[in-house]
Amino acid sequence: MSRLESMRRRLTAQIDGLNWALDQVADIPGDMLELGLGNGRTYDHMREYGDDRRIWVIDRQLNCHPSCVPPEDSYLEGEADAMMQALADRGAKIALAHYELGIGIREQDEKEAEKLSEYLVPLIAPGGLIVSQQPIVGIPEIDGPDTIAEGRYLFYRQPG
Ligand SMILES: C[S@@+](CC[C@H](N)C(=O)[O-])C[C@H]1O[C@@H](n2cnc3c(N)ncnc32)[C@H](O)[C@@H]1O
Repeated sequence: MSRLESMRRRLTAQIDGLNWALDQVADIPGDMLELGLGNGRTYDHMREYGDDRRIWVIDRQLNCHPSCVPPEDSYLEGEADAMMQALADRGAKIALAHYELGIGIREQDEKEAEKLSEYLVPLIAPGGLIVSQQPIVGIPEIDGPDTIAEGRYLFYRQPG
């Protein structure tokens, strides 16, 4: 498979996975969280197709398309561990988190996801979901939509 085809599969999985997850959390109270604003593509998708709930956004730098700059009061600029701690300190509860931090080096990205799980998992409301490119620990993994090949995108649900 070429890198171009691989990218197409990743984008399709992101769209299908986020659409599925948005539907799944429709009745779960809480905010949303975008971990890794980047260009702003997935944030924009959550904003476009989610309901009107608040979307917290974390990135160490603001580097997105001008149309995707989050509202100042929902954007936390800094390292993800410290920013998630700040969210916990203000009592935020998250119904849906999308995790796309990383630099594309598998071993390093997985290690970081494992380390950041201890900040992320406690933020998730009972019944809330994490949709992730990287493995998250400390929360049960669930099956996502049938259209996504196993392991291409990962889904987790907080018990309760
Ligand atoms: C792959 S991009 C995200 C792509 C984005 N979801 C999109 O659809 O355009 C990853 C982003 O995560 C950020 N990032 C990576 N590790 C981070 C960390 N530990 N703390 C904060 N931001 C981080 C990078 O600055 C980068 O903007």
